[in-house]
Amino acid sequence: MTTGGFSPEQGDDRIVAGSSMSEEREVEAALRPKHLAEFVGQHRVRNQLSLVLEAAKLRGATADHILLSGPPGLGKTTLSMIVAEEMNAPLRISSGPAIQHSGDLAAILSSLTEGEVLFLDEIHRMSRPAEEMLYMAMEDFRVDIVVGKGAGATSIPLELPHFTIVGATTRAGLLPGPLRDRFGFTGHLDFYSNDELELVLRRSATMLDMHLTSEAFTEIATRSRGTPRIANRLLRRVRDWALVNQLSDVDARAAAAALDMYEVDSRGLDRLDRSVLDALCTKFHGGPVGLSTLAIAVGEEVETVETVAEPYLVREGLLGRTPRGRIAMPAAWEHLGLTPPEDTSTQGLWSLIPEETAMGDSSRLNTEPAGSLHQENLDGILYFEDRD
Ligand SMILES: Nc1ncnc2c1ncn2[C@@H]1O[C@H](COP(=O)(O)OP(=O)(O)O)[C@@H](O)[C@H]1O
Ligand SMILES: [Mg+2]
Repeated sequence: MTTGGFSPEQGDDRIVAGSSMSEEREVEAALRPKHLAEFVGQHRVRNQLSLVLEAAKLRGATADHILLSGPPGLGKTTLSMIVAEEMNAPLRISSGPAIQHSGDLAAILSSLTEGEVLFLDEIHRMSRPAEEMLYMAMEDFRVDIVVGKGAGATSIPLELPHFTIVGATTRAGLLPGPLRDRFGFTGHLDFYSNDELELVLRRSATMLDMHLTSEAFTEIATRSRGTPRIANRLLRRVRDWALVNQLSDVDARAAAAALDMYEVDSRGLDRLDRSVLDALCTKFHGGPVGLSTLAIAVGEEVETVETVAEPYLVREGLLGRTPRGRIAMPAAWEHLGLTPPEDTSTQGLWSLIPEETAMGDSSRLNTEPAGSLHQENLDGILYFEDRD
């Protein structure tokens, strides 16, 4: 069975991907809340941020540097824009990958105006030299510009106006300590509850002039993987479906029919997710099975299965990662409408899964020795596992 060949990059183009698709940036911009008060959920981060901004305004100073971390699609870019809006300050946008030389950063920093907010998306992907320049700029509002090369090189200090950096990262763990320490405020965004997603959807529906029943909002929210970006995307697909089917009011059945058509199921799983679970349950009797064997069985790259499908399956308690390989959790059988085999030894494994497996921490779970031979019986073939 193949799922149509998702590469890890193409994983971004899945309807249930947290990252944004190229053509939807504009639509997204229109749906972004402009003020903190309109920003749904994330109460802790919102309250803390509100305090930081209020205090800065009262002091008549620029706000402390702000670091926002969390998975794609939860509102980091939106919040950075809100910071500028609330501070009544101009906003400059750049990103880690765009800043490869310290000169790139120097050019941006030296053109900032007093009080400006500089949003640095994917800040963990900035180059080392640029990062070091940023330390000094953030702390002392000063950079040293190096002129010339080799022995004749001199550095000229340049004073900068006060500004606020808002850094966003999906991988807070990858940020070097010294950089992390220079942020006065760090907010971590978490996945949204279904109730919160319904609020996001209601707000977007009003802006898109769509009419949905309460149950229809619930139906879309439960398929949105805790992610506002996905919720808004599914809402637009429902809108298309309603338009073509000439429905002016969308109820739960219509919403479900629309999303079924796009192959997003009742738990927000798509074709790739389901084929991974299906292979695990039916071909491998629930596992444990090595990652590469599982990938071969679904006709995908190892990396696609590991980075695109697995994180959500693990988070949902459908798939477990154990030292002996991947296993199907009881909820997986249930979701696929299958009965778990009674006699299998895998059932004993469910109780052996360390706590962090459920948290999706892959770093500690790659305990299978690299390049080891696993005697896995896939149609009688031995597979050599070259990784994980
Ligand atoms: N708390 C929220 N309330 C309302 N809409 C939100 C919220 N968080 C995100 N969104 C919507 O989700 C989309 C993606 O948000 P974005 O800030 O770009 O996410 P990130 O930068 O974390 O990937 C935006 O279109 C925005 O309108
Ligand atoms: Mg973003």
